[in-house]
Amino acid sequence: MLVEPGILERLPALAAEYLPGRRTALVSDDTVSELYGRYLAGANPAWQSRGRICSDGSPAGWRERFTVPPGEHSKTREMWAALTDRLLAAGHGRGSGIVAMGGGVVTDLAGFVAATFARGVPTLLVPTTLLGMVDAAIGGKTGVNTPAGKNLVGAFHPPAAVVADPLTLATLPGSVLADGLAESLKHGLVADEGHLDWIVAHAAAIEGRDAVALAALIERSVAIKSGIVAADARDDGKRALLNAGHTVAHAIEHVSGFAVPHGRAVGLGLLAEAILARRMKLAGQPLEDAVRHALRAFGLATALAPSLPAADLVAAMRADKKALAGEIRFALLAAPGRPAGGPHCWTHAAAEGEIVASLRAIGAE
Ligand SMILES: NC(=O)c1ccc[n+]([C@@H]2O[C@H](COP(=O)([O-])OP(=O)(O)OC[C@H]3O[C@@H](n4cnc5c(N)ncnc54)[C@H](O)[C@@H]3O)[C@@H](O)[C@H]2O)c1
Ligand SMILES: [Zn+2]
Repeated sequence: MLVEPGILERLPALAAEYLPGRRTALVSDDTVSELYGRYLAGANPAWQSRGRICSDGSPAGWRERFTVPPGEHSKTREMWAALTDRLLAAGHGRGSGIVAMGGGVVTDLAGFVAATFARGVPTLLVPTTLLGMVDAAIGGKTGVNTPAGKNLVGAFHPPAAVVADPLTLATLPGSVLADGLAESLKHGLVADEGHLDWIVAHAAAIEGRDAVALAALIERSVAIKSGIVAADARDDGKRALLNAGHTVAHAIEHVSGFAVPHGRAVGLGLLAEAILARRMKLAGQPLEDAVRHALRAFGLATALAPSLPAADLVAAMRADKKALAGEIRFALLAAPGRPAGGPHCWTHAAAEGEIVASLRAIGAE
């Protein structure tokens, strides 16, 4: 992964280096394409001929730009099909490559398009949210949601490269920056208490988009995630740790109809699962206190508002791909930086009564 302020200026050269000899298509969302899509101009002859008008009246460069509406509602099989059809209609094929530029929604969706298009074409990922830089663009997972739940259809499709420009975070709304921090806090909680403490201590610099603080934050989070992924690329063991907070988070996203964004839901999930671990006597009070303190440092929610029914959340958890043979499983922690249950036991099944009590503790009905 290349992390460097201003690196977007070199995007055409990087596309040529990592997608050599390929016709490149930019896949993005409307917001990000408008803000940063111009940086890919020059990677293709079609882009270079900006100003030339196609027979359909659009500028020639737009032929290589494929955008979707921003937000989680675009991460669907329908959008996968629409993008695939548009790529085919524009004449893309096995010789193409995809530059996916945007948040986790775009890198997951475009990554899944690339995994399947013409039996797989390479990608260059350009995350533009903090969540994308510290988490979604790392590890090779791509996919879309279905009516039954989050990320239920997807593929492992590692990118040719990941290029992150921390300067793009300057245009990110404060609440979206905070959403990304929830995943970084998770990295600290599962593997490195020092990282957790560092993030909380540098809250002002991070919120102020200090380039040095952001680069340090991204590099440490990426190192933690990459280390765990390297030990378990296909997600059969230790990688489950990265699902800390996510059994609850995915249920919150699903039941709220994605009104609660992913990062915010992860923050609430980390808190509910810390409470669950305490109730199951796997963790003490310090874990819950540390999670609550860290969430508050960034104005992340510590209670559901508006409330959601605990019964609906539990039903959503049963449909989640992390449920095994009807058991709802959680990647629980014993303390900040320390997983519960020792190195060979990454997830825990929990009784429904304990789950419901933990959900009520974060404001579920
Ligand atoms: N594949 C993985 O391993 C993995 C890991 C974590 C999360 N995810 C997924 O990531 C998704 C969440 O990603 P997200 O939080 O980045 O959300 P997102 O992609 O929806 O982006 C959030 C919003 O920020 C806007 N935006 C993006 N970059 C911007 C910029 N630089 N300036 C201004 N606005 C900008 C987008 O248009 C969007 O409206 C979820 O679907 C989640 O499941 C995947
Ligand atoms: Zn996540």
